[in-house]
Amino acid sequence: MTQPKILVARAIFPETLAFLEKHFEVEHNQDDATWDKQELTRRLQGKVGAFTTGTERIDAEVLAACPELKVCANMAVGFNNFDLAAMTKAGVLGTNTPDVLTETTADFGFALLMATARRMAESEHYLRAGQWTKWRYDMFAGAEVHGSTLGILGMGRIGQGIAKRGAHGFGMNVIYHNRSRLSPELEAACKARYVGKEELLKTADHLVLVLPYSAESHHAIGAAELAQMKPTATLVNIARGGIVDDAALARALKDHRIAAAGLDVFEGEPKVHPDLLTVPNVVLTPHIASATIQTRRAMAQLAADNLVGFLVNGKPLTPLNPE
Ligand code: DGY
Repeated sequence: MTQPKILVARAIFPETLAFLEKHFEVEHNQDDATWDKQELTRRLQGKVGAFTTGTERIDAEVLAACPELKVCANMAVGFNNFDLAAMTKAGVLGTNTPDVLTETTADFGFALLMATARRMAESEHYLRAGQWTKWRYDMFAGAEVHGSTLGILGMGRIGQGIAKRGAHGFGMNVIYHNRSRLSPELEAACKARYVGKEELLKTADHLVLVLPYSAESHHAIGAAELAQMKPTATLVNIARGGIVDDAALARALKDHRIAAAGLDVFEGEPKVHPDLLTVPNVVLTPHIASATIQTRRAMAQLAADNLVGFLVNGKPLTPLNPE
């Protein structure tokens, strides 16, 4: 019997590949080559399924050229690389990988908050550069974390994980803003108080962004929002580039309109706004918030299970646009 043909658009774990090969005829981007849209479209032709990551854009143009395509399984919880409306119109299912990365990503968000507040990157560069010659009372004095006010913009699963770490582990006063308010039970579990966006910006000592990217959240943090924040505040983005206006942020950091930032995601990544590379008060990491071996394995397996679930058993595990 001929097996359904799928494309694995990026390099993945050998065991995920072996699992997929039991069910499908697989074309795999083993070398992890960077394919442009034309090449991705060419490779997708004749495939019924695709294993994608956040880096492959699936839009109306790609879909029109690939009429056999039925499902795209993203190895990511974020799915802004999918034009979901176009996929729904074309009858193509999208799936993502929620839950399996929540705690790991929340760990990283908190680590980035700590590194940013306590100036870890800046002080490490100073030491490596051989500039540390003596102790000084105010050397790399940063912002207090315990007991301070933690603001969270976007209160989904990862936001709640960060809130719990802050409230229960560090005695922080947690405030949040979200499209919809959490239930009283969830607010109690997170020890979090709902506030308007303006109060969040004005009150937070540390503001963590965990909201999904969409046309609505594009530049949710720009010059105007940065101007409302405390000059002592820190900003952490583990959500998506594009939520922050990186040029405006670089200016705010340079002019010390906020104290520091920690960024794991960037507009147009893997390119990084050149001004961010020249300001010292920013910690920069290359989109690794979910990157532990265990979590990345779990994400890969869930994406593969979604392909098998849909194409073999007729039931995907975590569909984004079910019929
Ligand atoms: C996600 O899952 O959305 C992370 O950003 C990893 O890409």
